[in-house]
Amino acid sequence: MSSSPGLGDTMRNRVPVVPLSGADITEREIDAVVTVLRSGVLSLGPVIAEFEELVRARTGTRHAIAVNSGTSALHLLVRALGIGEDDEVITTPFSFIASANCIRYERGVPVFVDVEPETGNIDLGRLEAAITPRTRAIIPVDVFGQPVAMRAVMALARARGLKAIEDACEALGSEFEGAPCGSLADGAAFAFYPNKQITTGEGGVVVTNDDHVAELCRSMRNQGRGEAGIWLCHERLGFNYRMSELHAALGKVQMQRLDEILARRSLIAGWYEARLRDIAGVMTPPVRPGVTRMSWQVYVVQLSDEIDRDAVMQQLAEQGIGCRPYFTPIHLQPCYAQEYCYRPGDFPIAERLGRQSLALPFFNRITEAQLDCVAEKLGQACRGSCRTRSRVFVPGEFRTGRDRPGIRVSRPAVCAESS
Ligand SMILES: Cc1ncc(COP(=O)(O)O)c(C=O)c1O
Repeated sequence: MSSSPGLGDTMRNRVPVVPLSGADITEREIDAVVTVLRSGVLSLGPVIAEFEELVRARTGTRHAIAVNSGTSALHLLVRALGIGEDDEVITTPFSFIASANCIRYERGVPVFVDVEPETGNIDLGRLEAAITPRTRAIIPVDVFGQPVAMRAVMALARARGLKAIEDACEALGSEFEGAPCGSLADGAAFAFYPNKQITTGEGGVVVTNDDHVAELCRSMRNQGRGEAGIWLCHERLGFNYRMSELHAALGKVQMQRLDEILARRSLIAGWYEARLRDIAGVMTPPVRPGVTRMSWQVYVVQLSDEIDRDAVMQQLAEQGIGCRPYFTPIHLQPCYAQEYCYRPGDFPIAERLGRQSLALPFFNRITEAQLDCVAEKLGQACRGSCRTRSRVFVPGEFRTGRDRPGIRVSRPAVCAESS
């Protein structure tokens, strides 16, 4: 699998040979946005409802409510489900920060539970032990598009009187045992930043089967106005989380193309698998048993512990290959570590994934020649980046003094006991 001759020239000119991601915008999307511009109705118009209907039908839910970001979608659900001050919400440290921040916006308390080493999804085997009398909800995340086993989550939530919000921001179109991501929880959030499977530029959607939750979310996205939409009558505290007609028009065409887009992304994931599986020290992303449809958001490999991931990343970047670490665990982000005294070792599995993961270029229009180039450069970089000694946390090696290994509550009081 040789790289195409043109790629070498581009590298010398320091233009990215292969970017990390890129939106797939066709003339259809452009026409749809221009049509809205010409219509003069730029907000609170008909296209929002059309976009919402496509998402609702696709996820098989009763309601879809379009908003201006995935974070807004999560925040609305937290509020609509009545999660408030001091309520504990169980979630994962291995995610984009919004999945925990949405709890803090309402002065709730994120309780982190470590993750499965293979998928990076929250370890369902530890959920039960994380439940206390203060627990109100669970927010699992479908990491990189890999679905969480939501039937199991919902069975536990129902048995213990808890609510569940699925952070499906990375998983539009994925299915687990035939159930679309977002369809089983009390509410779910999707996100449409340009690195997602489909984009609206910025945007998100809430889906839910609960009429009351839907009504609250619709109202709160629009400054707390009531269903009757009486001009400037605000029934409750709300926000401006509205999506514009321009964003919805883009999203509508992207939704209509979703099957074509997901098929292309599956094909690319297969191409990667074929090229990377024999590179020593590179583990390609698994698709867990029970996944009946995988919607690939990003393509993240794990490097073995002997390989210095950051050195690999630097070498790739120098050669024009877009790549990123995915994710730095939430508990080690300054705004969590400082406030709650989290430290390395609190969640060893999430930390190991965070330290050894590498997102490779992944977008609909990537070519086989570009993939050849990525595979070749990745192999070279891995061979040249072996550590002589490494400090590696292994599963089971948790900080001492914890009665619930791999589980920690985000409360400032924890600082005293952990010092
Ligand atoms: C898992 C997860 N949750 C939440 C979000 C937040 O979405 P947004 O960036 O649209 O606010 C993202 C987006 O990157 C995400 O990946």
